[in-house]
Amino acid sequence: MHKTPALFESSLTPNQHSALSTQHSIRPRRLRLNPTLRRMVRETTLAPDDFIYPLFVTHGRHVKNEINSMPGVYQWSIDQLAREAEAIAKLGIPAVILFGLPAAKDPIGLENFSSDGIVQQATRAIKQAVPEMIVITDVCLCEYTDHGHCGILNHGDQPHLPEGYVLNDETLKVLVKVASSHAEAGADIVAPSGMIDGMVAAIRSGLDSSGFEHIPIMSYSTKYASGFYGPFREAAQGAPKFGDRKTHQMDPANAREALRETELDVAEGADMLMVKPALSYLDIIRQTREQFPQLPLAAYNVSGEYAMVKAAARNGWIDEERVTLEILTSIKRAGADLIITYHAKDAAQWIK
Ligand code: PBG
Repeated sequence: MHKTPALFESSLTPNQHSALSTQHSIRPRRLRLNPTLRRMVRETTLAPDDFIYPLFVTHGRHVKNEINSMPGVYQWSIDQLAREAEAIAKLGIPAVILFGLPAAKDPIGLENFSSDGIVQQATRAIKQAVPEMIVITDVCLCEYTDHGHCGILNHGDQPHLPEGYVLNDETLKVLVKVASSHAEAGADIVAPSGMIDGMVAAIRSGLDSSGFEHIPIMSYSTKYASGFYGPFREAAQGAPKFGDRKTHQMDPANAREALRETELDVAEGADMLMVKPALSYLDIIRQTREQFPQLPLAAYNVSGEYAMVKAAARNGWIDEERVTLEILTSIKRAGADLIITYHAKDAAQWIK
């Protein structure tokens, strides 16, 4: 005798069930019948305006170094930036975020707040070539310090703290100098990324007291200690020489703590929020969007997320365009207004 498999047993009463199945009054497929209908009922759309494109800038001339683990992403020298910025603008992408590779590294990262530093030069070059391009600068020490950590390290100065610990308030003083120096060079937005306590308040008051009260802060308000930053550390040469970043970046297991971190940054005066990485943290994007609806929210679709797509696509295992647009759509659907992504140029082209 025929028996209905358990999968199809429904919670409807037999009468309801037979009404539905005989009349088929509810058929969600009606709205999926053709591409135009699907377009009309689409809830989430992508546009080049949603994207922020990361750029790695380095000293030298005629440099366009492809990053091994990030195909299609390059380290650029300053003389190449005007052309690249024009290409980005032409695709309709409104903003870039800069990461600098300094000429030399030292314990506090001096080049990071030098008026002739690599990011300062790059900012001036881009603003000159494409004045309407929004230049965001990453405010952190890890690419500039010889130890590769995001702050000033404890070397017996504070015996009650572990050796090599990132000292919070000493680091804040340097971050304030870096942010002001970036603003001085013409940055439109500064983006502190170190998860140092009080970084937004310190940078806000530093900017305000040096005449940059009009410069917004995009805080990396929720940044996890993530394995997905691997390829970035090759691109920006900012891997820690020892240890890890787990005493300041967040534990991937925590969600409630993300809301606490965000609340603090909002109170300290952040103008824009961020969740990073994006894909393993779509729940955090959604919760941040719901709890802090007043502020623009960015999500950082990080290097490891990009590398995975590229690697699988190169092997012919996935359809790169389809998967990339699906990923970017999911980040926006989760609640991000803006997506920092290495896919920005390709995606902008595909969307057109
Ligand atoms: C810190 C910084 C990092 C990234 C952005 N800003 C590296 C880190 O925190 O270790 C990672 C971005 C990516 O993986 O794409 N300057």
